[in-house]
Amino acid sequence: MKDNFAGRLNTAFNSIPADELKIPSVAIILGSGLGSYVSAVEGTVLPFDRIKGFPKTTVEGHKGVYKFGRDILIQAGRFHFYEGYGLDDVVLPVFLMWKLGIKTLVITNASGGVNESYGAGEFILIKDHINLIGTNPLIGSNNKEFGVRFPDMTQAYSKHLREAAREASGSELKEGVYAALTGPSYETPAEIRMLRVIGADMVGMSTVPEVIAANYLGIEVLGISCVTNMAAGILDTPLSHEEVMETTKRVEKDFSALIEKILFRLLKEND
Ligand code: HPA
Repeated sequence: MKDNFAGRLNTAFNSIPADELKIPSVAIILGSGLGSYVSAVEGTVLPFDRIKGFPKTTVEGHKGVYKFGRDILIQAGRFHFYEGYGLDDVVLPVFLMWKLGIKTLVITNASGGVNESYGAGEFILIKDHINLIGTNPLIGSNNKEFGVRFPDMTQAYSKHLREAAREASGSELKEGVYAALTGPSYETPAEIRMLRVIGADMVGMSTVPEVIAANYLGIEVLGISCVTNMAAGILDTPLSHEEVMETTKRVEKDFSALIEKILFRLLKEND
């Protein structure tokens, strides 16, 4: 992170009327097209553009708001490296959550299915990731107030939370490894074959920087991916953002129901 990051974080934090809001201990980041859960929860909406120093979101399907509910903080929308933001921008929301006192982060995304046993519209628990973005949000001098220089990533996606999520869902949710590339072009079929060989089950363009930041800050992470399409080269059809949006629209209700069950369970644990 850049040397001015702590100052930037303070500025963002100070623009949140934190004393007027009840700050929960669990937060969720809703990924591409998965933002509709935001309307399932009552609370105070704070658009990103009201937070000083926050970048603007540019992608369709990413709303860019926080909602402070009674038990849960929802972030609908996120910043992506491919939009041209630095990783400081990408992880700023996670640092802000940390400063607000968030202990558990549920992070969701849309992904391409590399594992051929997956189907479009399926929800997969992320058990681990492969960072192929080519950089790391923690590069720069280390501020000990945040975390250690060399953060452990052996349980980047908490096993305990995965078990809790599986139990809460009442179904056999599969687990898989998520590989992140920068995008914004989708992968080539050769890249997908490579990803399969190195152990990836899903591919996407987000999540990994935020999860690195969360682990650094001591926030426990649960990752849930919605496989919106089979990855490049598996089917004959070309990939498109429209397909991603169509799938998320189709599974929107199931996604909200799953999130609801999982959050209910996590909140009970935190009581
Ligand atoms: N590749 C990368 N990112 C994605 C995909 C994909 O196939 N689907 C949704 N996000």
